[in-house]
Amino acid sequence: MKTRSLTRMITQNRVWKSIFRQGYPNTEENRAKVIINTLFLHIHPVRVKRHSLKVSYTWGMGVISTFLFIVLVGTGVWLMFFYAPSVERAYSDIQRLETAITFGMLIRNMHRWAAHLMVLTVFLHLCRVFFTGGYKRPREFNWVIGVMLWVLTILLSYTGYLLPWDQLAYWAVTVGTNIAGVTPFIGEQLRLLLLGASEVGPEALVRFYALHMWFFPLMMAILIGVHFWRIRKDGGLSSPLESDESRIMEEAE
Ligand code: HEM
Repeated sequence: MKTRSLTRMITQNRVWKSIFRQGYPNTEENRAKVIINTLFLHIHPVRVKRHSLKVSYTWGMGVISTFLFIVLVGTGVWLMFFYAPSVERAYSDIQRLETAITFGMLIRNMHRWAAHLMVLTVFLHLCRVFFTGGYKRPREFNWVIGVMLWVLTILLSYTGYLLPWDQLAYWAVTVGTNIAGVTPFIGEQLRLLLLGASEVGPEALVRFYALHMWFFPLMMAILIGVHFWRIRKDGGLSSPLESDESRIMEEAE
């Protein structure tokens, strides 16, 4: 009884009402309103299909990938405080992170492991969407957004690889950009665009840094937003029944 009157007191409060427009979510209507009126929750639909909550259907890989992306942004911002993308400083900054900075080794390894894991989880997510037929109508566009997210995941890993400026990084990027260099017709221009010079050096380091810290993460954040918005607009997750229906419709056309 006491809890109920306390709840009522809070939910009738002006401050509460100025933030949350609806009452306490203890009725069907208020529960729906909480989702619709809250910026961070309105990504959720008011109702979901029961099977789409099953781990055996989604493998949870999309959500895990989202979580890893958030970990990567958090740890990445922290790493930026201690790293400068210059040929003179990059290598020693990483050594300092590993040996002299509090939690440096931990945060750096969290960043590395989250990046490795994300490649795996995004790939497994792609496989699950393929095996459950989630790419079929009306979700073709979201599949295309997904492919872009997959490419971005790889590009983020690759551009991050150069930043420690050690032998492994140097030669991996030399090999990678040489491969880009043999692309038919535009190979040499592409290699020049990536490196900013004829071989891996300070220009490449700054370019990879800018792409890794700003351009690719920003693109990924925007595309993840579009990806989620599309899931909502496409009526939530696919269902086995639905993919049968779309096959029947396609055959009828
Ligand atoms: C950064 C990478 C990605 C993130 C964070 C992400 C996130 C998500 C999440 C949270 C879902 C909801 C269901 C679930 O967890 O399985 C989902 C669904 C979906 N994703 Fe992704 N995704 C990513 C990459 C991809 C890729 C690489 C593809 C395919 C090429 C893809 C295609 C789809 C499609 C078509 C759906 C709807 C599936 C259905 O209705 O069954 N996504 N995504």
